[in-house]
Amino acid sequence: MQRLIPVLNKDHVPLHLISVINTLLTAAKEISHRLHQGSLAGTLGSTLDENIQGETQKKLDVVSNQLIKNMLLETNLVRAVASEEEDDIVEGNPDAKYLVAYDPLDGSSNIDINGSVGTIFSILEVPDHPAEGKDMFLQTGDEQVAAGYILYGPSAMLALTTGQGVRMYTLDHTVGEFLLTVDQVKVPKDTREFAINMSNSRFWNKPIQSYIADLIQGEEGPRKKRFNMRWNAAMVSDVHRVLCRGGLFTYPADCRNKKKPCKLRLLYEANPMSYLVEQAGGRCSTGYERIMSLQPTDIHERVSVIMGSSNEVEVCLDYHKKIPCDRFDV
Ligand code: F6P
Ligand code: MN
Repeated sequence: MQRLIPVLNKDHVPLHLISVINTLLTAAKEISHRLHQGSLAGTLGSTLDENIQGETQKKLDVVSNQLIKNMLLETNLVRAVASEEEDDIVEGNPDAKYLVAYDPLDGSSNIDINGSVGTIFSILEVPDHPAEGKDMFLQTGDEQVAAGYILYGPSAMLALTTGQGVRMYTLDHTVGEFLLTVDQVKVPKDTREFAINMSNSRFWNKPIQSYIADLIQGEEGPRKKRFNMRWNAAMVSDVHRVLCRGGLFTYPADCRNKKKPCKLRLLYEANPMSYLVEQAGGRCSTGYERIMSLQPTDIHERVSVIMGSSNEVEVCLDYHKKIPCDRFDV
């Protein structure tokens, strides 16, 4: 089985970019190890807890954020990092070329129940036009030079794209390396599976409500086929299933909190996952616009997300075209 670096070399990925990706994976191996240790590592629970030695326990998402940030900045190859866990960007080498946006531990409500979680990353280059600080990160998803996630499930898996399709690697703990296990990830065009948090349905706009209502009617409804539903409450693990066997994943806008209609973050979640899904032949949209074409206005911006099997996403988008929003504009 092939190791990651020779595969990236064969794809002519620039050496410094390979180093940045490899550094993210070194941090991921450490996170994977700590997750395996669970309560034994004293990293579960809240930041205010103390472990039996009387030491302050750190939540694993805080620890993961620090590990990734410190390791990336130590490489001197990174101009700045933006993390879901940090209010502001953290600057590194002013002469470096790469910017890394990341969600250190996605789906972190799963940590304390020993469920699947993940790390998502998006790598950009410092833009040519003059931009300073956070503004450097305000680039469309199309500008990404690499994106991926590490899923910490029964095995740890990396899904990675550098714009030449998507490959998956599995962490072999005996050699401490990610080995190539799926060479060409392809999302099937059609599906009978969807992923959504149904408990929010009364807060959705009409287009998504109607679409889901029709799926649930199965053979008796307008779709004339039965659909299955899955929800792991960790985007990495739900999108991983979509990459493996197709499906439609969505976290639509809702009106639970008028000030915050969308949950998922554009830079740390929607863009990198869209890059993977599109590179694997799938489709990604907010319902109205292609996600990777959006011009971000803030590093922590949130968006409505619909992604997965292309024909099914297309059907969902038709509902958005035909049915007006009844509760709020998105
Ligand atoms: O990062 C946000 C996140 O944890 C995603 O990973 C996941 O898809 C979603 O939130 C789960 O949300 P909810 O708890 O509303 O189901
Ligand atoms: Mn997340």
